[in-house]
Amino acid sequence: MLLAIEQILTLHDLAKVRALFEKVQFGDGRVTAGELAAQVKNNLQLAFNAAETRVMTGIIHHALQRNPQFVSAALPKLVGTPLFNRYVPGMDFGNHVDNAIRLGEITFRTDVSATLFCSRPDEYEGGELVIEDTYGLHKIKLPAGSLVLYPSGSLHRVEPITGGRRDVAVFWVQSMVRDDAKRCLLFQLDADIQSLRARAPDAPEIVTLAATYHNLLRMWAEL
Ligand code: NI
Repeated sequence: MLLAIEQILTLHDLAKVRALFEKVQFGDGRVTAGELAAQVKNNLQLAFNAAETRVMTGIIHHALQRNPQFVSAALPKLVGTPLFNRYVPGMDFGNHVDNAIRLGEITFRTDVSATLFCSRPDEYEGGELVIEDTYGLHKIKLPAGSLVLYPSGSLHRVEPITGGRRDVAVFWVQSMVRDDAKRCLLFQLDADIQSLRARAPDAPEIVTLAATYHNLLRMWAEL
């Protein structure tokens, strides 16, 4: 599932994150890439142990927890600490698939990949996130404060930056439901139940559809 969630950060939180991006020192982004990805990764990254990393991570994790669309789509078991990346002209990130396992203080499986756009689209040229799936190529450049989610098994790249500056936070989610097709079914079913509740709150089918949702989740979730 390829899903854009608009304005997952409030304007207030976005302003705080952007102010920290202005303040911090960036280093070479290759330090956290796997061997193959390091050959194609060409960007700048904030140190994992920087004080600002903790502050920005707190803001983002809090925003994710209170967003029902994110929770319904990702069914998160674990949300990793974001990497804070900056791309300036001449930088890009060639075609790659994200590592299946992220090693660290907490080691986890990557099921869902996420990019949170912190720069406005008019602040840089190029730099589209290009994701390949069975429908073809998707070129993604979202408003500042918006998020895209995609299956971590997808081939993807960041097009070269030709002007301005592209600041993003990228992170990975281990889902309670590892299979993307199963997550898609649950997401659609949940959306339809919510829609039916809004339109016909007394419909008796709501209870049985909700039971089906929970029983599928019970069948598929790994905790
Ligand atoms: Ni990637």
